[in-house]
Amino acid sequence: MNWRFWERSRGKNPADAPSSLEPSVVKAALTPQLSREIRESFNEASRDEEHFPSTIDPRIQHVQVLLKFFGDLTDKRVLDVGCGKGRFARVLSESNPRVAVSGLDISEAMLTCVPEGVEKVAALMTDLPFAASTFDCVYATESLEHAVEIERAVAEMCRVLKPGGRLVIIDKNAEHWGRFKTPAWERWFERRELEKLLERDCGQVHSEFISYWEDVAPDGLFLAWFAVK
Ligand SMILES: C[S@@+](CC[C@H](N)C(=O)[O-])C[C@H]1O[C@@H](n2cnc3c(N)ncnc32)[C@H](O)[C@@H]1O
Repeated sequence: MNWRFWERSRGKNPADAPSSLEPSVVKAALTPQLSREIRESFNEASRDEEHFPSTIDPRIQHVQVLLKFFGDLTDKRVLDVGCGKGRFARVLSESNPRVAVSGLDISEAMLTCVPEGVEKVAALMTDLPFAASTFDCVYATESLEHAVEIERAVAEMCRVLKPGGRLVIIDKNAEHWGRFKTPAWERWFERRELEKLLERDCGQVHSEFISYWEDVAPDGLFLAWFAVK
């Protein structure tokens, strides 16, 4: 995804917070007004197919790490958190006729592009409208960075995961903050910071750097975090 889109947005660097604070200690609130602002921003962004595409090449590592970590999806329930136009959900649902994929997003306009066969859910990732232990697999690709209330969003993803269920978060590395212009609410993550949040509810937590292509070494921008509940 090309983040030059955000060069138009006004933005204050969340990393401007006092450096003595660990990132996870810097708390922000997803007020109704901010949530409206984020929704409207992504509703508008949905018209920008170049920067917010509705498809993804399944060979891209971001897709491959999900497929590999989740394994056989036959008769499994999967949740895509902050699914956007459902480009990942599309690949997963096409990968197995017996998988049930739900895509959840704050932006109704993004959800209109989610393909048929994927359940569409308009909601906040900090307040997932599902019972505990509903899903076998949960993932969030470049969406947790917009959650504002990060700890709450991670706790919600873990809550809706079944015991033994698998969770993947793909997002950007805080060490590369400043590489693109970002909206004011966006946060990137330190490797250990998200690992610690996941360890509250899950085991087998680990993370790895990923690039787009298998034969290209990661440049450190993207991290994938993995956990098993
Ligand atoms: C950068 S896009 C990524 C979309 C998709 N995961 C992908 O990789 O194509 C971020 C998505 O997160 C959604 N989003 C932002 N804040 C959200 C929130 N609090 N709850 C649910 N979705 C949210 C946006 O509407 C947007 O579709």
